[in-house]
Amino acid sequence: MVKHLLIIETTPTVNWYRILAGMHILGEEVHVEQAQYSEISVTAYSDMGCVCVLAPARQPLEGTPQNTERTINPDFLFVRSVTRALEGQDSRNILYAFMFSGLPSVNSLESIYCCLERPIVYGELLKSHKKLGDRFPLIPQTLYPNFRSMIITPEYPLVAKVGHAHAGYGKIKLHDHHQFEDFRSVCALSPAYVSAEPFIDWDYDIRVQKIGNHYRAFHRRNPNWKGNVGSSIIEDAPMTPEYQLWVDEAATYFGGLDICAVDALHRKSDDKCFILEVNDTAIGLVHKYEPEDYQHMRELIETRMTAYFSAPRQQVPPQPTAGPATAVAAAQNTADVPAPPPGPAPAAADPATAGRKKLACSIA
Ligand SMILES: Nc1ncnc2c1ncn2[C@@H]1O[C@H](COP(=O)(O)OP(=O)(O)O)[C@@H](O)[C@H]1O
Ligand SMILES: [Mg+2]
Repeated sequence: MVKHLLIIETTPTVNWYRILAGMHILGEEVHVEQAQYSEISVTAYSDMGCVCVLAPARQPLEGTPQNTERTINPDFLFVRSVTRALEGQDSRNILYAFMFSGLPSVNSLESIYCCLERPIVYGELLKSHKKLGDRFPLIPQTLYPNFRSMIITPEYPLVAKVGHAHAGYGKIKLHDHHQFEDFRSVCALSPAYVSAEPFIDWDYDIRVQKIGNHYRAFHRRNPNWKGNVGSSIIEDAPMTPEYQLWVDEAATYFGGLDICAVDALHRKSDDKCFILEVNDTAIGLVHKYEPEDYQHMRELIETRMTAYFSAPRQQVPPQPTAGPATAVAAAQNTADVPAPPPGPAPAAADPATAGRKKLACSIA
């Protein structure tokens, strides 16, 4: 028997076939497939789970099946991609199909779903702040569900953040109410929620990362007020009990975030820190630690898959003997790649889409 593991990876050059080579779970070989969200077409059946057709990759990894169309019925997922990015790029419906099928995943699909929206994550951070007080120094924030409620603001200068965007996108520094009024008039054209918080005059921003039980902390310095835009200098920072508390707390959210990172700011004038946000499964890695961190991710997948497949579970109901789902799923157990199921073929990845995906990956 073989276990089918589907990796959803934004960066086409990251090679999960290699990172996970030779993996076995409970004596069974793990068959890895890797694709970007834009290459995946899914049909979810109540009896047979998810049938995924993976379009040939635009930049196939050498020596892998990525240059062909593949059909798989995944047993487990590993998600290393944001679900939504820029210019309306949105793979939530694919995420829902995986959730429909109850597919086990790292991070869990439920946690990925909850992390889709910044106010939901902030709500969790606020609970931690109420529980831990100054030991969990969360930045105060105001949420405006629409432009009409954009009336009362924090003190200026402030930072306004629009919608779910990552990687510095959708964030603007505003110096007075004239600028805020202009900004509000722009927001009136968008259905996105907006938040506002005081601008912190920071000397370095802080990233505390957790992958399974492996922790790292970094300080980042940047001449831009957005520390994750342009070129920044990233230094290793000691993993203090304070940082550990922040990230351990965040790792409990939404049933548990196996992979997560807390972003915070340090203000030089009074040596205070301000927690900004929690990033989930698609955290960007610091280049020099990538090989090690990918090994930590491998360990994590092994641990989670072993726990999942060794847990007692309900008997699978008898399978129907006919129908497209049955035919495709049955074919998964053969060595040959079957024809795709009926339905629309996955859209070919276009260069613009590929570029946007890459951009989304540089979340910091
Ligand atoms: N309130 C703030 N005051 C000063 N700088 C901020 C503030 N909020 C964000 N920044 C800067 O912008 C960067 C991006 O903001 P963040 O909230 O982490 O969103 P994302 O990383 O998802 O775009 C932060 O790393 C920080 O450098
Ligand atoms: Mg951030």
